[in-house]
Amino acid sequence: MDWDAFFAVHRDLPREGPGLAEDVAWAGQLIGISPQGFVCDAGCGPGGDLAALRQLVPHGRIDGFETVSHFVEAAREKFSGDPSVRIFEASMEQLSGPYDLIWSAGAVYFLGVSRALEAWRGALADKGAVAFSHPCLFTDAPSEAALAFWEAEPGSIETETATRAQIAAVGWQVLATRPLSDAAWTAYHDPLLARCDTLAAAGTSDSVATAVAAARKEASDWRAVAGETGYVLYVVRPG
Ligand SMILES: C[S@@+](CC[C@H](N)C(=O)[O-])C[C@H]1O[C@@H](n2cnc3c(N)ncnc32)[C@H](O)[C@@H]1O
Repeated sequence: MDWDAFFAVHRDLPREGPGLAEDVAWAGQLIGISPQGFVCDAGCGPGGDLAALRQLVPHGRIDGFETVSHFVEAAREKFSGDPSVRIFEASMEQLSGPYDLIWSAGAVYFLGVSRALEAWRGALADKGAVAFSHPCLFTDAPSEAALAFWEAEPGSIETETATRAQIAAVGWQVLATRPLSDAAWTAYHDPLLARCDTLAAAGTSDSVATAVAAARKEASDWRAVAGETGYVLYVVRPG
């Protein structure tokens, strides 16, 4: 992977994976988070969920953790005048909290479900919960195209049943799940495709042109396999 070319495309985007404000609201309502709550956005990317998280805890605090510098800068800019929102350029694996909610959109698979939950157990407040969106196969007999869709991503891709088993194996309980909607994917892909068009129109190096082609392919491949795979949002709590 040419990361410079990848990040030439993945820059100045509102978010870096599928998701909607209503997903954040659903998780917050489900656990009954207090407006004074303390929330972590683990792997916050450019901060696409910060506004929705702030709505959950208008009198509380938010910590974001992200390792890619230009995502950190983008996230910080969004709440530069709000001292209750802090963005750390640091790994989400070392959290102290204690958080009422650890939100993680499309980032847990970088660590793996078991490792992330083990790392976060001690960072939750009493009755705290983790809400994370995670790649999922919607069928036990996926096509090669559905499996290939996730090939470039870390970790293995599994069904919800298999992910629930991993969650249970480390002693956590699932409070609820729901698949991310097509609109959640569009919220990621539409700005990505618009950026691809802008870069292509401006003229790019060969390596960036390759990254643009890969981003366009990712969006069109998703349309082809959306019935077989996508993301599921899990809300979980230590058992
Ligand atoms: C698919 S993106 C999703 C970003 C954001 N949550 C969103 O929905 O727009 C996953 C993010 O996790 C970040 N990430 C991966 N491993 C991380 C780690 N150990 N600590 C913090 N962030 C990490 C990546 O840099 C990337 O920004």
